[in-house]
Amino acid sequence: MIYYFSATGNSQYAAEKIAAATGDMARFITAKGGGSGNPNQFGFVTPTYAWELPSLCRDFLKRGAFTIPADAYVFIVSTCGVTPGASGAEAKHLLNKRGIAADALFSVQMPDTWTPIFDLSDPAKNAAVNAKADQALDAIIKQIQKQEHGNFQSRAMPRGVRIVTHPIYEGLRQTFHFRVEDACIGCGLCAKSCPDQAITLRRGRPVWTKTRCAMCLRCLHRCPVFAIQYGFKTKGHGQYVHPPYKN
Ligand SMILES: Cc1cc2nc3c(=O)[nH]c(=O)nc-3n(C[C@H](O)[C@H](O)[C@H](O)COP(=O)(O)O)c2cc1C
Ligand code: SF4
Ligand code: SF4
Repeated sequence: MIYYFSATGNSQYAAEKIAAATGDMARFITAKGGGSGNPNQFGFVTPTYAWELPSLCRDFLKRGAFTIPADAYVFIVSTCGVTPGASGAEAKHLLNKRGIAADALFSVQMPDTWTPIFDLSDPAKNAAVNAKADQALDAIIKQIQKQEHGNFQSRAMPRGVRIVTHPIYEGLRQTFHFRVEDACIGCGLCAKSCPDQAITLRRGRPVWTKTRCAMCLRCLHRCPVFAIQYGFKTKGHGQYVHPPYKN
């Protein structure tokens, strides 16, 4: 089984592509359902947030109801815009605490969905990044098929950097950064699809009922009228969903 978390489709795409090539199933970390996929492997695919794991992925690796056959090949894939930071190292550490040894760590660069900083307004540029990511995924798949062991992440950081990165992530997770523009049509999609149940619709407008969320930006990138903004640069930096998952 390959578990993944994904807000804008990059990690979903990576998980599904690896699953298709290795006779496995890709499952969203909170999804229920039957089937166990390829019993000879266990994969975990995660985005990188502020050089570390999204809060929901940390919770899943700590408390998720998954089991791994003793002799399964265990791999972690961090998707990222620039660097996987310590996301792979942290996932490995959390699995280790449950008595599971990760055999291999991979990373793949994809469009950087942290649009308070990065500009994703040019679909052609995003497509070029995704074409390179596809090639990187092909290489990763070959390594997984050969059950290669090792840390193959590029530009990764040791777990110790979390002393610096964790407070940064906690700061950017604060939902007061969000604002809703008048363009909102009250469709409720943001509330319905928030993986952290952080949004409630009140008088036809989203209201963040948690002071902190995973800050995955799914609500911002998937709003049909681009009415949700974070800070003051996201409007110019555009919305992004990995093409196969666009509505
Ligand atoms: C809150 C947040 C923080 C991020 N921080 C980083 C980072 O530190 N390093 C990086 O390379 N990419 C970072 N990214 C980019 C994502 O890791 C990357 O775009 C990922 O592929 C998104 O996956 P998804 O489409 O499956 O949600 C960040 C994205 C978000 C939303
Ligand atoms: S998804 Fe966008 S349009 Fe729909 S309720 Fe949320 S903010 Fe408003
Ligand atoms: S409120 Fe938005 S950014 Fe926060 S977890 Fe929900 S969908 Fe993600």
